[in-house]
Amino acid sequence: MSQMEEAAARIEALVRELNEYNYRYYVLAQPVVSDYDFDIRLKELEALEAQYPQFADPNSPTRKVGGEITQGFRTVRHRWPMLSLGNTYNEQELRDFDERVRKITGDQVTYVCELKFDGLSISLTYEHGKLKQAVTRGDGVQGDDVTSNIRTIKTIPNVLKPGGARAANGRNRAASGDLFSGLAATEDLPDLFSGAGAAADLPDLFSGSPAQQPYPDLFEIRGEIFMHRAAFDRLNAEREELSLQPYANPRNFAAGTVKLQDSAEVAKRPLDCFLYFLYSDDRNRQFAGHWESIEAVRSWGFPICEHTALCSGMDEVLDFIARWDKERHNLSYDIDGIVIKVNDYAQQEELGFTAKSPRWAISYKFKAETTETRLESVSYQVGRTGAVTPVANLQPVQLAGTTVKRASLHNANEIMRLDLHEQDLVFVEKGGEIIPKITGVNLSGRLPAARPVIYPSECPECGTTLIRLEGEAVHYCPNDQSCPPQVVGRIQHFISRKALDVEGMGDETIEALYREGLIRDYTDLYQLHEHKKQLIKMERFGRKSVENMLVGIEKSREKPFEKVLFALGIRHVGETIAKKLAAHFKNIDELAAATPEDMNSVYEIGERIAESVGLFFADPENRKRIQVLKEKGLKMEVEQNGDTALGDQLAGRTFVISGTFAMHSREELSNLIENHGGRLLSSISAKLDYLVAGEKMGPSKLQKAEKLKIPIISEEDLLSMIGKN
Ligand code: IVH
Repeated sequence: MSQMEEAAARIEALVRELNEYNYRYYVLAQPVVSDYDFDIRLKELEALEAQYPQFADPNSPTRKVGGEITQGFRTVRHRWPMLSLGNTYNEQELRDFDERVRKITGDQVTYVCELKFDGLSISLTYEHGKLKQAVTRGDGVQGDDVTSNIRTIKTIPNVLKPGGARAANGRNRAASGDLFSGLAATEDLPDLFSGAGAAADLPDLFSGSPAQQPYPDLFEIRGEIFMHRAAFDRLNAEREELSLQPYANPRNFAAGTVKLQDSAEVAKRPLDCFLYFLYSDDRNRQFAGHWESIEAVRSWGFPICEHTALCSGMDEVLDFIARWDKERHNLSYDIDGIVIKVNDYAQQEELGFTAKSPRWAISYKFKAETTETRLESVSYQVGRTGAVTPVANLQPVQLAGTTVKRASLHNANEIMRLDLHEQDLVFVEKGGEIIPKITGVNLSGRLPAARPVIYPSECPECGTTLIRLEGEAVHYCPNDQSCPPQVVGRIQHFISRKALDVEGMGDETIEALYREGLIRDYTDLYQLHEHKKQLIKMERFGRKSVENMLVGIEKSREKPFEKVLFALGIRHVGETIAKKLAAHFKNIDELAAATPEDMNSVYEIGERIAESVGLFFADPENRKRIQVLKEKGLKMEVEQNGDTALGDQLAGRTFVISGTFAMHSREELSNLIENHGGRLLSSISAKLDYLVAGEKMGPSKLQKAEKLKIPIISEEDLLSMIGKN
């Protein structure tokens, strides 16, 4: 064997071994080696991969620590749409479901009952035993490609155990009725280490794991990503310590994490996953039903929830529900109900789908739990945009497994609706959704002298009279120039990860600098280097951290225009809108000079945004700020050869996309146009250069374009314009 072949073989053996250790540790919770031994092998693999990058696989266990940075997520169409489930809330609705099912399938129905995990759904594609793609649900038709983030989740196998590829064909064992019957089976263990790189000293890793069944060359598997409550509490406490807004619940935290652009950060946050659904082309030939498929999926090394049952009828289903309604608080993660699925695939096919959900499955939602407690006080928080949110401070009370101390009151209308009085006895509810809320007042507990809670007319932070915009429920403090939380919040936004991502600074740094009187505005950041001595003397600031911070500020000058635009904090201009505006107007002067009509003509820019952008640039203070940032060298125009630019074949031309297309989604086509220098308009007018017409487009658009003699082109025409045919 040449040295290179030896390296390749060793890499393969290490990958296999480490994957198995991960599976043992994370999925089965039965570690077989010490952390030390694991790390030694991981280091060896890292070194080999560095030396022979040609053998480094994106699915290698070394990638479980992340490291990839994503510039926005690619949109991917689901091969099978990701549907939702119909909901039921009581026994009668479940019995009705059962009756509908049996009318079609006949009386012989078995159901699989599963916990309904409260996380976010994910679809994983495996090709030849390797994780190829992980896509979020999105709108059910297409979602975001978050593969590099999902690869960091320890319980998700990036590579399936060898030996399971379709060797023996034909139908698997019949459903045994016990998901774990395979657990102790050892007699039919595949010979896992017979391939290249098999090392004689590898331990017998597989005794004790479920007997493996063959997996298809290509399959999709769906499940739920979630975070255990303990991890959530710990991480959220850390966030609060850093004065970062805590996440409302583990689900939001998990969802926020999956959408992070830095997979190394994702790897640090302990996400977990349960899989609950398999798709493959000949799935229905391989398995008789859902239960069997899940049993097989488990044997392929996927994490499957052990609390799953095969029930022979509705009575057994109801028992399962009753049991978990009580016991759910003893789980380490949140569930918000039970999912009931018809087991038999043939029966599933007979039942089919409605537009939104399968007729062969339904979810039962647990009732939100409620309790009573006293209102201690109401505080009013002023956010970055000046919105004032009332928060109820409650006498701490146990509810659905956690201690509740605060509840959102949303706005002034909500306080009026509740007719809330000081010290009221309130009903608090914690549903699967936003936690927790006040649903009403127990009037029998009202104190005789209690006064009504009055929403303030002045800002609790700066005393300015609050305003309420027409048609909005929220009050705002209009003093955006000197109301402290607004000023601080604006600078915090400016440096935040999604904006200019200034390294070496965080929310707390900004607060401290503000308190010290060193910054009153984000433009002051570019003056900070003149105060180095004072900075170093500040508590917790040290020389090294001050230097990091100043380097971070320096580097913000390299950030692309779209980030600068987002960082300015224009109301209603989020990340995506900033990108669209930058791509369309190309530089800040064009944007500042745009009329509302100009902006409205941009694809996806509505009146609300146009108005808010207009107001921003009309303010002389903002114009001054932009002038300063320009002088300091921040990017105020798109780079000719920016990250996403693929060419300029469409420069100066405008497009409207309408209808559906064979090869690309509309999102993909609009990205293609913008990345080749073109601009998208929202409607057909004399200004338009091309209408890209797909199937099922509205006849009125077509007529209008014909009348204005605007060239109507196809998807293929567009592709050939950019030399992509
Ligand atoms: S099956 C077509 N099983 O609930 C079948 N979904 O309300 C679709 N969910 O989008 C899903 N636990 O995100 C299924 N054991 C489970 C589930 C589950 C949680 C989520 C999933 C789905 C939503 C539907």
